Amino acid sequence: MNVIHAQAGDRLEAAQVALSPSSGGIELTAQTGRQCLHPVWLRERALADGAFDPNNWQRLFEPCALPEDLTVTAVEHVEPDTLALSFSDGASGTLSLTALARELGWLADPHEPPAPEPWTAGTRPRNEARWGELDDPRAMIQLLGGFFRHGFCVLHDTPTAQDSLQTLAERFGFVRNTHFGKLFNVVTKPNPIDLAYTGRCLPGHTDNPYRKPIPGIQLLHCLENTVEGGLSTLADGFAIARQIEHEDPAMYRVLTTTRVRFRYQSDTIMQAHGPLIETDDRGELLRVRFSTRLDYVPAYDPATLDGYYRGRRRFYELANDPAFQITNTFKPGMLIMFDNQRLLHGRSEFDQSNGHRHLQGCYIDHDGPDSLYRLMMRDGREPGKDGELS
Ligand SMILES: [Fe+2]
Repeated sequence: MNVIHAQAGDRLEAAQVALSPSSGGIELTAQTGRQCLHPVWLRERALADGAFDPNNWQRLFEPCALPEDLTVTAVEHVEPDTLALSFSDGASGTLSLTALARELGWLADPHEPPAPEPWTAGTRPRNEARWGELDDPRAMIQLLGGFFRHGFCVLHDTPTAQDSLQTLAERFGFVRNTHFGKLFNVVTKPNPIDLAYTGRCLPGHTDNPYRKPIPGIQLLHCLENTVEGGLSTLADGFAIARQIEHEDPAMYRVLTTTRVRFRYQSDTIMQAHGPLIETDDRGELLRVRFSTRLDYVPAYDPATLDGYYRGRRRFYELANDPAFQITNTFKPGMLIMFDNQRLLHGRSEFDQSNGHRHLQGCYIDHDGPDSLYRLMMRDGREPGKDGELS
């Protein structure tokens, strides 16, 4: 099936529609494909007075109560983009051909956030903006588009008052509370409850794979940095996964199928399971988990574990390979927002005696930026702001 990468407003050309007596539904044919559509599938989507709440687009009828033997009794192409349908239960309604084509994958949905594009140091993406620039909706959409493609973005010249991260993060989503607090301070501490609170080198990792659910997006905000060292690193876990799949398909299979236990214990005990590389039923990458200080693979036989440990070692090598990493030196007012289920972050060692390094961090969920992007693409402006796209 072909997918047209359409711009907003694109329409399905030369569609033909006919009743499908064998299925009770309709058959839709266009130059992009042919699809037989189930009568209940159509009835669930048909627009009619009283069918949907106009404020929230939730159905005002119960689709599970529709007759099992429901059929489409008539279909007519009434306008260039509109089908009118009648159903055997007496209901009638209309459907947009463009909406159908988007749901069938025949047309791209212009409101859909861009798909991930794996990157390495050689293709270093630059998703950067100054905080004040985001008042322009076009700058915000461009930044978010880059974030979805590459899994991170960098903001400069943000306010640096203590705890201002709360306000910065709320521009993108709801801040998630954890036992680290809504905001956590990444500074050196005696008797730290996490290695982040030391001056040690932190190899590339994803945060908190022991949580249910794992934090979606992390924001790190620099308030002060006068130390030498402590470079912040980012690597794309999706690029690492694709590299391993390319090099050694058997190793990739081990890393996508071995279910590992991740456990944290200090002032709270948390535990969750999952593979280092998680894919969906089509083999598409969903997320990576990589935190070698707190992962526990089951006691498989030594030959099986040899394979797993080879795979984990290769993942580690790539995660810390300069060819896969980009580095940033945190300056006051700099904020990095990254997908914690895709990117690995780390930092080089720093000497805590020669200066002071103070970052604040927090987590938000994926649906914050996702919703913001969809709303801005639909409405042409950021919710709560006056500016409009032109
Ligand atoms: Fe971390």
